[in-house]
Amino acid sequence: MRRPILAGIVLSVALTGVAIIAVWRQAGRSQTPEQFGFGTPATTEEIRQADTDVTPDGGGLPRGSGTVAEGETIYKVRCSGCHGVTGTEGPFDRLVGREPGDTFNFGRDPKFLGRRTVGNYWPYAPTLYDYVNRAMPFDAPGSLSSDEVYSVVAYLLYRNQIVPADAAISDRTLPLVRMPARDRFVVDNRSGGRIIR
Ligand code: HEC
Repeated sequence: MRRPILAGIVLSVALTGVAIIAVWRQAGRSQTPEQFGFGTPATTEEIRQADTDVTPDGGGLPRGSGTVAEGETIYKVRCSGCHGVTGTEGPFDRLVGREPGDTFNFGRDPKFLGRRTVGNYWPYAPTLYDYVNRAMPFDAPGSLSSDEVYSVVAYLLYRNQIVPADAAISDRTLPLVRMPARDRFVVDNRSGGRIIR
């Protein structure tokens, strides 16, 4: 009876020791050196250049404007090769198309388009600016001026029957554009999330 108890005590002392050593070694490893010896502090200008995010309510939009007509020209040259002349035929993502009655199937219902587009899926117009500015054209992201982005966004909104052909889209007017899919999304209300109307 005694031996197993003794063996048990010895084993638990040994295991506790191993655990303490492991934690201690881990703690030693995760200590971050104060200086790595490379890199330089980001300048205000570098931070400004990288700070391009635009929020759903239009926060962060740079000053500027564009028209549907200018957007059409830019779209033909910079976008149509990948998204199709009409924005529907690819080879890459379909950008144009509404669903009848603006029903919402997450663009998946094959009875309708079966594809997500700016017209059936995109909930906030300002984030269209953010995305195009940040990521498009796919082969040269960041190469469009802000006025060019406003223009091509105006054109995509027009092609999706969201704004008229003579719409001038700017940092002031873009947040006022109400997207067909606006109410189809639930706002993330975790820390800092807020309802945008
Ligand atoms: C070289 C090919 C290429 C070019 C040129 C291009 N795109 Fe794209 N685009 C893509 C690809 C690929 C995706 C999908 C990217 C992904 O899912 O990560 C995409 C996605 C998009 C989306 C998001 C579609 C969605 O529903 O999620 C938009 C909007 C868009 N592009 C707009 C544009 C605009 C505007 C231009 C021109 C200024 C442009 N693209 C030029 C390849 C291209």
